[in-house]
Amino acid sequence: MKVEFYGHVRQYHNIKSEIDKNIKTVLESGQYVMGPMLKQFEAELAAYHGTKYAVGLANGTDAIWLALMALGIGPGDEVITHPNTFFATAEAIWIAGATAVFVDCCPTTKCICPEAIEAAITPKTKAIIPVHLYGQCADMVAISKIAKKHKLKVIEDNAQSIGAHGPKFKVGQLSDAATTSFIIQKNLGTFGDSGGLVTNNAEIDKAVRRLRNHGSTARNVHSYGFNSRLDDIHAGIISAKLKHLDEYNDARRKWAARYTAGLKDCKTFTLPVELKGYRHVFHLYVIETLKAEWRDQLVDFLVKNGVDAKTHYSIAIHKQAGYPWGKKARIAGSVANAEANAVTCISLPMYPELNAKEVDYVIAKVKEWDAQFASQVPAGKKSAKSGDCCCSCK
Ligand SMILES: Cc1ncc(COP(=O)(O)O)c(C=O)c1O
Repeated sequence: MKVEFYGHVRQYHNIKSEIDKNIKTVLESGQYVMGPMLKQFEAELAAYHGTKYAVGLANGTDAIWLALMALGIGPGDEVITHPNTFFATAEAIWIAGATAVFVDCCPTTKCICPEAIEAAITPKTKAIIPVHLYGQCADMVAISKIAKKHKLKVIEDNAQSIGAHGPKFKVGQLSDAATTSFIIQKNLGTFGDSGGLVTNNAEIDKAVRRLRNHGSTARNVHSYGFNSRLDDIHAGIISAKLKHLDEYNDARRKWAARYTAGLKDCKTFTLPVELKGYRHVFHLYVIETLKAEWRDQLVDFLVKNGVDAKTHYSIAIHKQAGYPWGKKARIAGSVANAEANAVTCISLPMYPELNAKEVDYVIAKVKEWDAQFASQVPAGKKSAKSGDCCCSCK
């Protein structure tokens, strides 16, 4: 049996008529860039988040970068984030000319640790970028308290968690802006590149709209800007998928619960934890082997057995060869949890269109592997985390 990592084509076939209809509408309108479909989609995206504004952009990296620019953050400023995320989170800080400051993640959620943020603040710190990693939100209540106390801006990198929320907050409500990516592998993805930003701040909305379109405020009138527009065909595709997003996230949660029930007695790895009151939307279902040397062995075993398992992200950003040391980045304190995550994480196939046979096959293969190594786990070692966190996201 083969279990693919992504289900894009299945998803297309399931809602083909809705996607095709929106593409046809755009093609027949003759307006392909900054047209009515983009406007419609932006209104839908803002309504989905309950924010006043939403702006469609070319990709999720630009969304972070333009949000930083709109907030006036650049050379000489420090922006705190964590190194166990996709490279683009830090890349956007460097493009803006600011310095990325890496702090540790929480060992349970893998999202940024609020205590580590507070310890890393210097007079140069201007903003925090928490990433809602794998589908679960960072502790925005704690983060926004720290930001208020130290007068810092907050940009949520929500490329992986549209539709997730915390116990007392929704994405976009406790920050200056929340950015996202609609690249195909995300939980809301188009068939190509694109991204966006939601905010309740009229100034950020206005600035990002200007920056994405060559600094233009009216025809032939330009100030400093770029080209980072979301075209109408992609807006139409995402608009069709957005209508199904809650049902897609529910399906992801259902498969995650099946994985968790099937794997809970395994000894050689830990399972993802959904904190109380949070809605985890399982963009990824990530397990972590107790020993680093087991990670690649398990991935190889699964791949050989037809299960397309992957790793996210197996090199922490500060260990990448392209990591720009010096003025552009620094590490604040220990990042041991983030470094451990990089060498032990395995993402199992996760998408709404999986079926029970496929999920059960993955479970069976993972259990088969676990049975070979379980005896090497020291007695008393917990097979799964309790749900308690190191810091304030308890
Ligand atoms: C956490 C995170 N931030 C930013 C990005 C960048 O998005 P994009 O690839 O659309 O530029 C991605 C995904 O690719 C991501 O996963």
